[in-house]
This record gives sequence, structure tokens and C-alpha cells, in this order.
Amino acid sequence: LWTPDNIIEDSLGRIRAQVGRDKVLLGLSGGVDSSVVAALLHRAIGDQLTCVFVDNGLLRLGEGDQVMSTFARHMGVRVIRVDAEERFLGRLKGVNDPEQKRKIIGNTFIEVFDDEASKLEDVKWLAQGTIYPDVIESAGSKTGKAKVIKSHHNVGGLPEEMNLKLVEPLRELFKDEVRRIGVELGLPSEMVYRHPFPGPGLGVRILGEVHKDSADTLRQADHIFIEELRRADLYDQVSQAFAVFLPVRSVGVVGDNRLYAPVIALRAVETIDFMTARWAHLPYDFLDLVCRRIANEVPNVSRVVYDITGKPPGTIEWE
Ligand code: XMP
Repeated sequence: LWTPDNIIEDSLGRIRAQVGRDKVLLGLSGGVDSSVVAALLHRAIGDQLTCVFVDNGLLRLGEGDQVMSTFARHMGVRVIRVDAEERFLGRLKGVNDPEQKRKIIGNTFIEVFDDEASKLEDVKWLAQGTIYPDVIESAGSKTGKAKVIKSHHNVGGLPEEMNLKLVEPLRELFKDEVRRIGVELGLPSEMVYRHPFPGPGLGVRILGEVHKDSADTLRQADHIFIEELRRADLYDQVSQAFAVFLPVRSVGVVGDNRLYAPVIALRAVETIDFMTARWAHLPYDFLDLVCRRIANEVPNVSRVVYDITGKPPGTIEWE
């Protein structure tokens, strides 16, 4: 029978048979797939597993701490946290083009991961959160973003250079199965049912050049939006929601003072396959509340706008 329990039992056996007493390395992103792989491997082989979590400075508010508390503190998984914010932001200096930014973030990720991995001894396996749709996708022709998603998520080139063999326990599973076994393995359902988050993170939600203060502003605004979606029970009704930092400045007024500051856009979509999407018709009162909170709580934002573009013609992300 195809129950989460059975899938888990079956996977545990296969992982143990595959890796034996060898050490395994996993790049933990905080996303659903790599999180479930971490939980599964930890159950299968305990401390033969080491995870590397790269904080690239482009994560959402509190995300790094959340990953560490879930995995390291509560589950006892060995996680090496690498604070690489300066390295990433340094590389992104002066870069405006979205695809260029994606490439830099992807390459820097591989570099940082590689540095950490080379410090570890005796690692024989690299674990990856490849799921069945990824397998199908890479079998067909790949263009544009799909390619980028692949190169980022699969830590391209690494196994070959380091002579690591791949262990991919989710290779035959669909997303909903991955989620169900995640919950069964004790991951918080808040983590398992999170909206997708792009590999390049806030790097493609800060339009144009990425600066630390823009990332900080965006993190705060995004956090308010997501917090209110959860509070209003709207989070699970939309497929993806986030804030975007627009580096244009508009005039506003705070108290008696004129403000000339950047704009925050809110984006929320409903979709089945993320290939096409409808903008979420969120209640006006809800949008009003979020706008007020952002204006009151986040310094240096002059205006909040709501994106009413479908896909097509817009993509879900702004870059
Ligand atoms: P778009 O913007 O193409 O996004 O409509 C469709 C879905 O893909 C995600 N996305 C990415 N994910 N690396 C990723 O891992 C990327 O470079 C990337 N670009 C877009 C996006 O968040 C949405 O869920």
C-alpha cells in the first residue's frame, strides 16, 4: 500500500543499502525537498549525514534561524551554517541584469558549498532533493529558467569534481507525496506546506542592483504580508505570495515630513502548475491592513502597490 509510512520504510531500507557506513553530504536550502531529504537521511543513517546550509543574505526574515532550530536543535541533525552574505552581496555589486544575477548567485552557491565540502573528510555521497517532476523535466529539452532552476538546485558539476556518488531518495515521488512524508517524519507542517521560494531568493525580488538595506527593507515588508496572510487564513488559499522591492522612488508624507523613498509591490497568485497563474483577488480590507502595517512599521517605504498582472503576460517573479 502506498501510504507515507510505507514509502518511508521502503526509502530507509534503500538508503541504508545504498550508502552503507559511508558519510553523506547534503546542501540544505530550507525548501521542502531538501528538508525532507535531510529528515529521511537522518532517520536512515543518523550522524553519517552532514548538512551544509548557506546563508546568502537573500533569505526571508528569520529563515536561517528557523532552519537551524528545526534541524540542528530539534532533530539533532549535524548542520554547518555558512554565513556568506558578504560574499554574495559583494559579487552582486553593480550587477543589474536578472539572468546575470541568477548566474552569479548560482555560481557563488556552488563555490561556497564546495569550500565547505572540501573541509569534510571521507564523504562519499552527495544527497539531493530531486523529485520525479525534476527527472522528467531534465529528460526533455530545457530552456530559460528551468535550466537555471536545475543548475542551482542540483549543485551542478560538484559530484564529478569531488568524486561523489549521488543519493536521491525522492526521485520517484511527486510533490504531494514528498510533503506527506515530510509531515510523517515530524517536520513542522508550516515548513512542509510553504509557498515555493526561488533559488536566487530575494536576489530576484529586489529589482536591479541588490543592496543590503534593500534586502532588509524587503524582508520586513514580506514578513508582514506573509504573517497577515496566515492570520487571515489566506496563506493556503494562494499558491505563492511575496513582496517585491522597487528601486524607484515616489513621494509620500510621514507626519509633517515629506518622504521620497522606494516602493513595495505585493504579489499573490493562484495556480496549479506555475506555468500560468491568476492574480489572487485578496479582499480590499486585507490589502488595506497590510499596506498600513508596512507603511507604519517599515522605514523608508513611500508606497505599497498590488500587482494585478496574470501569467501571462507577467511572470510570477518580477525578474
Ligand atoms: P516565473 O517567474 O517564471 O516563476 O513565473 C515560476 C515559478 O518558478 C519560481 N522561480 C524560480 N525558482 N530559481 C528557482 O529555483 C529561479 O531562478 C526561479 N525563477 C522563478 C517562481 O518562484 C515560481 O514559483
